[in-house]
Amino acid sequence: MPRKTNAIQEDTMGRFEGKVAVVTGAGAGIGKACALAIAREGGRVVVADIDASAAIACTTQIGAEADHTLALAMDIADAQAVAALFETAQRHFGGVDLLVNNASAMHLTPRDCAILDLDLAVWDQTMATNLRGTLLCCRQAIPLMIARGGGAIVNMSSCQGLSGDTAQTSYAASKAALNMLSASLATQYGHAHIRCNAVAPGLIMTERLLAKLDECMQRHLRRHQLLPRVGRPEDVAALVAFLLSDDAAFITGQVVCIDGGMLAHVPTYADGGNSAAARPAGGIAEAAAEQHC
Ligand SMILES: NC(=O)c1ccc[n+]([C@@H]2O[C@H](COP(=O)([O-])OP(=O)(O)OC[C@H]3O[C@@H](n4cnc5c(N)ncnc54)[C@H](O)[C@@H]3O)[C@@H](O)[C@H]2O)c1
Repeated sequence: MPRKTNAIQEDTMGRFEGKVAVVTGAGAGIGKACALAIAREGGRVVVADIDASAAIACTTQIGAEADHTLALAMDIADAQAVAALFETAQRHFGGVDLLVNNASAMHLTPRDCAILDLDLAVWDQTMATNLRGTLLCCRQAIPLMIARGGGAIVNMSSCQGLSGDTAQTSYAASKAALNMLSASLATQYGHAHIRCNAVAPGLIMTERLLAKLDECMQRHLRRHQLLPRVGRPEDVAALVAFLLSDDAAFITGQVVCIDGGMLAHVPTYADGGNSAAARPAGGIAEAAAEQHC
């Protein structure tokens, strides 16, 4: 019998046929792109978000029939709500194979400053959502995955979990801890065929960031990438889909950067003029010397 199709399930590779995915923070930005990518390849997706209308809008965009997607309003920091999320996935779709821990307390980042100025309540709330919330989701998902013979988890980290910054102390620490949580999970449950990887995006232009960062700020950030364009939610979703799929069947415990090369070069790159053609034979140091001396 032909599988039921929906508006975005045309011309697909079907890597997620028969799979059930939970994506947190799937109402907007990167999470939404991940939910769409999984659904596009035949997966059934539970779209979980603290914003009910955003979650519903995402399922509407998936355009699925009732048994292919489900919207659920919940806060990942709330243990009862997390338990209810996975109970719902189990009841509605019969289990969980894939989990994308994408939700983060992004609303706190403007108040998340340098160590001496930092309000400890912001630190606690950031850890409660980004780190403890992710742990809660993993603890619910692992037994369901074991019952299905295995599964795959992607935790949404950040380049800020890999390098220091002048602000966002709590956010960065929560993302660095998330990298280790991913490695621990991969180590402890690999024997049960559960893989876990972290994805660390650089600057990804979501609607939220487009509203927040003016062109001047975007240009400033882009100068520090190697590729001359901004990252898009779909770029991250493609990597997440790869890591969730059997194409990545032997990859676990990794942190994969997706940042247009932001963390891959010497710090003087941007100051030196960021194309090879713009540089003299002496390289970045000579170019920088010419510009600034
Ligand atoms: N956009 C970037 O440049 C960037 C860079 C590095 C890492 N990230 C990471 O990617 C992930 C997604 O970021 P984004 O930029 O797409 O964010 P976004 O603000 O566009 O979307 C986040 C979604 O998560 C939901 N959400 C927030 N708190 C929640 C909670 N407690 N429970 C459930 N849902 C919640 C929001 O309602 C929203 O729909 C985050 O983990 C973020 O740290 C983003």
